[in-house]
Amino acid sequence: MQSPEKKEYEISLFPGSEFQQETGRWLSEHLANAINAVARGHVSPTVDVARFREQLARRSFEEAEPLTELIEWVTDALQQGLVQMTHPRYFGLFNPAPSFPSVVADTIAAHFNPQICVWSHAPAAVEIEEHMIEQLAQKAGMPESSGGHFTSGGSEANNTAVVCALTRATPEFAELGARAFSGQPLIYVSRESHLAWLKIAHQLGIGRNAVRLIETDGLGRMDINVLQETIDVDAAAGAAPVMIAATAGTTNAGVVDPLHACADIARHHAIWFHVDAAWGGALVCSPRYRDVLDGMERADSVTIDAHKWFATTMGAGIFLTRHKHLLNEAFAVATDYMPSNDASVDYYVNSIQWSRRFIGLRLFLSLGAAGWSGYAAHVERGVALVEAFTDRLQREGWRLENDSKMAVACLTPPAGSLSVTEIVDAVVRRQSRYPRLHDERTLDPGRLRCTRRPAASAHLKVGMLKSNSHRPWLRSSRTRLYR
Ligand SMILES: Cc1ncc(COP(=O)(O)O)c(C=O)c1O
Repeated sequence: MQSPEKKEYEISLFPGSEFQQETGRWLSEHLANAINAVARGHVSPTVDVARFREQLARRSFEEAEPLTELIEWVTDALQQGLVQMTHPRYFGLFNPAPSFPSVVADTIAAHFNPQICVWSHAPAAVEIEEHMIEQLAQKAGMPESSGGHFTSGGSEANNTAVVCALTRATPEFAELGARAFSGQPLIYVSRESHLAWLKIAHQLGIGRNAVRLIETDGLGRMDINVLQETIDVDAAAGAAPVMIAATAGTTNAGVVDPLHACADIARHHAIWFHVDAAWGGALVCSPRYRDVLDGMERADSVTIDAHKWFATTMGAGIFLTRHKHLLNEAFAVATDYMPSNDASVDYYVNSIQWSRRFIGLRLFLSLGAAGWSGYAAHVERGVALVEAFTDRLQREGWRLENDSKMAVACLTPPAGSLSVTEIVDAVVRRQSRYPRLHDERTLDPGRLRCTRRPAASAHLKVGMLKSNSHRPWLRSSRTRLYR
């Protein structure tokens, strides 16, 4: 029997393999050209937003358009309308230029499009993710029986930690929510922590007041005495402390809270101990710097973001826990429209997400291609670059304000310098005027001197999560470094 003619919409949405292959070849060349063009252009967006909105508004999808024309329009828009993370002079602290294997992983995952919420639908993909979780838990120093899963990012991983902590604190939390507690449930983080904690508490219905922002010790670390005292006072007042979340690599300054002391206090009060190593967790790869994270192995759970220092494409977080069984207690649900309900392997009964993308492949291919030693070299080079740059600035009279091995330095300029904001503005202006300006010239500390006084308490933040760059990243901050 002859196969029926394809309808026009079928050709658009599900074209034959010849068209797919031809388009794929054209696309890979088109993208390579676009990324090369990005490297010769501006780091910051140059898009004429008003014109762009007009063009966008005209697209009401009444008429179908050729796919290749749409692709050209979109890539052109992205070339002008983004901070370009692939640009050689982009020095993003958190959002890295993506590793090539992770870009490949996204292409592969998109082609097969596995639904990995249940093991039985995608055993190969789920097993790969499980393997990655085991490998990371091992590197984090957690017991062999540990488990976890990939998340959309650090916020979801931290959210998962709070759900686990609340569930362990009282199993009635599952049915009653915050009402299961006789007093206000409380989680303890430092003032320098990533404030997604507030959104998490809000979403979970325990309220933003559930987040106790503990003072820091003057060096940006959670003050252990204040932590101890606050928990004692709260508990005596009838509240319900449920979790301490230490940050290993604060967002502002790459500072690590005292992990052992936090673990001791959590153990003493029998509450959950979480380590948010969203950014700094990549140091697990480095034998030289692994001890910066010493104490992480005592955590009940850990957050690491692959899309930060592991440099995978966006939307790749990791949640690890030594209490694997708790995930099912927290996220169990039974329904007969799912093909299975296996607590030991099905992600939809062990995590916040239901339908899931195969994001673990990004780290699998990246680690596979570079090895742990490759990632060790990647993070160590970042640290070395920032140290070298800091050294030069210190010789010019700048003061280093933070103590971190996480490839970030916060520096205040000497008296008589331009203000930090002016320095950064000047660098950005020069970059856009001379897109090819050489690294060293742009950032020569000797050229940063000026007669005006710096704005009080402003500091320059210099970071380098991108080991293939030659210059650190600049950002001004008008906020005080430590509150
Ligand atoms: C320490 C820390 N935790 C959590 C997050 C949130 O991670 P994400 O943006 O992946 O949700 C960040 C983001 O910068 C962070 O620095």
